[in-house]
Amino acid sequence: MRKLTYFIACSIDGFIGDPGGDATSMVRFVDEEFFGFLKAEYPETLPTHGRQALGVDDLQNKKFDTVIQGRASYDLALKEGVTSPYAHLREYVASRTLKESPDPNVEIIGDDLVAKVRELKAEDSDFGIYLCGGSQLAGELFDEIDELVIKTYPLVYGAGMRMFGSDFALTEFALDSVRTFDNGVLVRTYSRKR
Ligand SMILES: NC(=O)c1ccc[n+]([C@@H]2O[C@H](COP(=O)([O-])OP(=O)(O)OC[C@H]3O[C@@H](n4cnc5c(N)ncnc54)[C@H](OP(=O)(O)O)[C@@H]3O)[C@@H](O)[C@H]2O)c1
Repeated sequence: MRKLTYFIACSIDGFIGDPGGDATSMVRFVDEEFFGFLKAEYPETLPTHGRQALGVDDLQNKKFDTVIQGRASYDLALKEGVTSPYAHLREYVASRTLKESPDPNVEIIGDDLVAKVRELKAEDSDFGIYLCGGSQLAGELFDEIDELVIKTYPLVYGAGMRMFGSDFALTEFALDSVRTFDNGVLVRTYSRKR
């Protein structure tokens, strides 16, 4: 079984965006050191339009070959006219309202999301699956998540969009690694204890 990894940016108090979900206040922490880390370790998590703008579109995937997004997160790209925000990955968008995919590289998952994710996890591949968010999708897929990679930015939001749009349930994860950056960013990797 390959892993489903929720790779997510959040505030110190665990919010992935402001109450409307906007996470742009975190972007200023992507400085030279942190961008170097992303390029070296997780280049495929940089969206295609960003990779092109930064001249790094030729970077090889390191951890993932597949991405899953919720429709609301995908909408952010669509609003910019981008129909395939992760063109270097196989893209899946969960939606019951989008009946037709706007792009040949994007497959819509309308029914039985969990079954589809289990099918993808059962594929034979050295690469994992990148769960890109947002909150609602991560909540729906919580039981399927094997790994968390949490980028914590040195900001307190006070209120905002939760990391998981799910109900209270205590679940233990084991800390695998912690990496700190000079600007106060922290990246923690956790595995689910099964
Ligand atoms: N900080 C970060 O790293 C980060 C990363 C990603 C996203 N975000 C933020 O997250 C926000 C969006 O999160 P969100 O929680 O509002 O929405 P979301 O999880 O991105 O998308 C929710 C939508 O996904 C579809 N969906 C959810 N569960 C489904 C299921 N079981 N089967 C089929 N479709 C399903 C539904 O689409 P339909 O309504 O079309 O049926 C639902 O409305 C954005 O504002 C973005 O900025 C932050």
